[in-house]
Amino acid sequence: RMKVTETFEGIALPGHLHTQESLGFAAAFTFRPTDVLIATYPKSGTTWMQEILTLLYSLGDARPAKTIPNWERAPWLEQIYCREALRDTESPRLLTTHLPAHVLAPALQRSKAKVIYVARNPKDVAVSFYHFHHLAKFLPDPSSFDAFLTQFLEGTVHYGSWFEHVKGWLGQRHLLDILYVTYEEMHQVSPAGSPSLSPSLSPSLSPSLLAPSADPAPAQDLRGTAQRLSSFLGCPLAPGTLAALEQHCSFSAMRDNAMANYSLIPAEIMDHSQGRFMRKGVVGDWRSHFSPEQNALFNRRYQEEMGDVELPSQWPM
Ligand code: PPS
Repeated sequence: RMKVTETFEGIALPGHLHTQESLGFAAAFTFRPTDVLIATYPKSGTTWMQEILTLLYSLGDARPAKTIPNWERAPWLEQIYCREALRDTESPRLLTTHLPAHVLAPALQRSKAKVIYVARNPKDVAVSFYHFHHLAKFLPDPSSFDAFLTQFLEGTVHYGSWFEHVKGWLGQRHLLDILYVTYEEMHQVSPAGSPSLSPSLSPSLSPSLLAPSADPAPAQDLRGTAQRLSSFLGCPLAPGTLAALEQHCSFSAMRDNAMANYSLIPAEIMDHSQGRFMRKGVVGDWRSHFSPEQNALFNRRYQEEMGDVELPSQWPM
């Protein structure tokens, strides 16, 4: 197991992908006004959004999604290969980052680049991240789910604190051209005939994830999200594009797409015998992992960290 770690701004990052040089490159990046940056905490829907934007910008043509690995279509700004990957890329460029807002905010605020922040219920993030630690050889071996959950809540896992990440990027809402999208809304079936989901911010607190609400239906309907993205990005969305998007961005299509499912990553880096990157793709899997005690602890920490935070209206938690 490789265990090289690079530390940046107090956050541990996989050392085979990050160096001080590559992180400095990201922090000093010169954004173009046409750039579109996907920002996420890991396991929040990054790969899904990369696929959706690929299909949106190709106007439904599946060839780029089927022939170019996603890390070349929307390279991670902070990873060592980024400079090379962007060499001949034409505008509009799709970029991805897991970095906290404070690192990229200065460069972004100087630009007119657009940012799409994707968030997911942190309980499901923790579960997905835990399983990912088993196949990713560049992440520490988790001893148990309970130990991992403690580290997740303390913010000592790789990529740092989920709370700090989310609060940092939410704090940019008046400073950047930024759209907040959630993993859960990409899953939801919009009521028949309803207009696209409103991107507006609710003045009040959204219902917290403490509520034992029913999980959204497992069927996926990307229409609402695709429409919001299309108007935010000023990118047309023809009916044919929508159909192609729904077809190629479904969980099963992406699970079987070698350019999206990370099966091309060599076994020294991802041990594919330990599980799949495209693991389950469902909302609410935390219910089959959390004990009542873990859930109570999580809810307390969530309330402490997020209780006073003004959340977008589509927030799932
Ligand atoms: S990473 O490593 O940060 O890039 O991971 P990320 O892509 O953000 O998150 C991986 C989880 O997203 C799920 N996924 C999807 N769910 C539903 N539909 C589609 N199309 C889809 N694509 C990816 C993936 O399965 C991971 O979640 P879990 O819960 O582990 O299945």
